[in-house]
Amino acid sequence: MNTETESSPETYVLAEQIKVDVLTGLSASPKYMHSKYFYDTKGDELFRQIMQIPEYYLTDCEMEIFKDRCMDMLNTLSAFPNGFDLIELGAGDAIKSSELLKCLVHNDINFTYYPIDISGNVIQLLHDELPKRIPGIDLQGIQAEYFEGLKEVVSRSDRPKIILLLGANIGNMPPDEALEFCTLLREQLLEGDLLLIGFDLKKDPWVIFNAYNDQQGVTEQFNLNLLTRINRELAADFNLQNFRHYESYDPTNGAGKSYLFSKTNQTVTVAGEEILFEENECIFMETSHKYSLKEVDHFALKSGFEPVMHLMDSKKWFTDVIWKAV
Ligand SMILES: C[S@@+](CC[C@H](N)C(=O)[O-])C[C@H]1O[C@@H](n2cnc3c(N)ncnc32)[C@H](O)[C@@H]1O
Repeated sequence: MNTETESSPETYVLAEQIKVDVLTGLSASPKYMHSKYFYDTKGDELFRQIMQIPEYYLTDCEMEIFKDRCMDMLNTLSAFPNGFDLIELGAGDAIKSSELLKCLVHNDINFTYYPIDISGNVIQLLHDELPKRIPGIDLQGIQAEYFEGLKEVVSRSDRPKIILLLGANIGNMPPDEALEFCTLLREQLLEGDLLLIGFDLKKDPWVIFNAYNDQQGVTEQFNLNLLTRINRELAADFNLQNFRHYESYDPTNGAGKSYLFSKTNQTVTVAGEEILFEENECIFMETSHKYSLKEVDHFALKSGFEPVMHLMDSKKWFTDVIWKAV
């Protein structure tokens, strides 16, 4: 784990770990990738582009919530008179949380902001940009995986904790893994600590389908970029022309899934291992799970939290919920 500006993203994820994970995934049937590896410097940039494409409604909806309901959030979150630690897991460019951060700083709330992200690039960007946008912010970025970063914050400070997990992050875990994640998170917190978490809601299936099948093809580039990363970091020879993106959404269970499929029979060498692909064989790249409000509340209760507040955008497409550890 690295803090602040001490390392580059490429040095953080140990070469051996990415090699083991990629080779395990490509030897499985069906083949899969770990979506946390999407975020190298180019992947961060492509994700920022995705957030701006017209079909990708998630950012606009959540931005609306953060702009319009900041005071409601502030009233609930500033319940700790001696200050608190505000920890954002998978912060990315913190575009939405910045609205809350501004509100907290302008209202002289005593807090330290700890963005945690696996990408050292985004932590560096936050250290470069946030103090300019929000003068006076107390910022300590940590480049790490979620729980490793959280343990680091707990070792640095015993103030009450408020955890942010925004955007697509929880949706990028299948429901059983997401529930386990919330349960583990609860174990790291003390009674009364708070969690503000974003869930994308079930809605018109075409709206969801189109969000991951954008006309400009940025989502496809984002997926293909992981093959480029593997080529660079694991001496692989994926030919990107031989793979295409495919997205599915199942409205009966809320499961959105991204794949890359092989356009031809081919052999790819990855870290010295030969990986065979049949024509039309898929690599499962990422899940984007959608929930109902009832399922979200159920999650809170099952993982040791009490739902305190649902905040929704005007279309009721996305919710940010505040849960209290009980
Ligand atoms: C889909 S982006 C969302 C960013 C931000 N939460 C938002 O709502 O705009 C996911 C972010 O989480 C980070 N991330 C993904 N898996 C992670 C992990 N296991 N530990 C820490 N960060 C992770 C990525 O680097 C990326 O910045």
